[in-house]
Amino acid sequence: MTTPDEARAELLARIRTSDQPQTVLRSPELRELADNIKDLQPEERSGAGKALNELKQELLRAIDERQAELDEAGTAPIDVTAPWDVNSKRPDLLPTETGTRHPIATELERVVDIFTRMGFDAHESRQLDDDWNMFGALNFPEGHPARDGYDTFRTEEGFIPPAHTSTMQNRVLKAGKAKLEAGGQIASISYGRVFRNEDVDVTHEHTFYQVEGVFVSKDASLAQMLGVLQSLFETYFGQKLKIKTQPAYFPFVEPGLEFLIEKPAQLGGKGGDWLEVLGCGMIHPNVLLAADIDPTEYRGFAWGGMGDRMIMLKYGIEDIRHLESGKLAFLRKFA
Ligand code: PHE
Repeated sequence: MTTPDEARAELLARIRTSDQPQTVLRSPELRELADNIKDLQPEERSGAGKALNELKQELLRAIDERQAELDEAGTAPIDVTAPWDVNSKRPDLLPTETGTRHPIATELERVVDIFTRMGFDAHESRQLDDDWNMFGALNFPEGHPARDGYDTFRTEEGFIPPAHTSTMQNRVLKAGKAKLEAGGQIASISYGRVFRNEDVDVTHEHTFYQVEGVFVSKDASLAQMLGVLQSLFETYFGQKLKIKTQPAYFPFVEPGLEFLIEKPAQLGGKGGDWLEVLGCGMIHPNVLLAADIDPTEYRGFAWGGMGDRMIMLKYGIEDIRHLESGKLAFLRKFA
């Protein structure tokens, strides 16, 4: 049978290292000590009860001390330039592993790299935007039912965590207008996080990643777009791929398409497994006009999508939720 004296050292040590010291009061050891008293002879009970009470008082004092220490550490400014042990609550414990890059960061960089080698410039997309960039500039009139297709979140001030990277199109077009006028072209990608009001399951996340492309010149064509995209996917997966498109509706392109690739053989594709990887099309004249670009003189194509799905396909990840989970067991596979 454990005695209060035997439990003391262990419980005090736990309090001194805990971030929530008061939880030690709910330890099984304390419950056991209280239970033991019931089984004692009547004349032993008061002595044992007193010893248990003294132990509890001592633990409470230790908890107060530890809590004060934690409160102080919590409010003390952290010197972010200092070596890790200066800020650590437990400088006696060495960190046992170093962090690694997240697979999303690694793979997005790979995609950006392929596009920059094709001559595109690249920008990270915004993570908070407004109604104009999410809808107005993309040819979604006020009250148009296509707005409902994007189940967006809104802040109390009316800002929108973007539901797609197409929110970058108007900025990219406006910034590139001077290049067009100087006889050049706009070739730009925007990559980053997007957010939707989704019911989360193995294939749906409320937070995911897209890569958006915008290309504008005097004679841009769908054929050029298909060439750019096929070449991207073949470079990324390191093998020849079959592609196909099917019609789709997005207010900001006309015609609008879904772009599919056949699941690569090296990733277990047996032929005929088609995967939808992005939405695309010729930029709608109203979207060019919203950036003050004359649609009778210039044309463009745009696409968006591909982020998480490509990563899942490449690594055989079956559950999209792993990517945002921060779970070490998952992340260590990419170390
Ligand atoms: N933004 C669209 C989506 O995420 C995809 C898209 C981008 C379609 C660009 C056409 C052109 O649903």
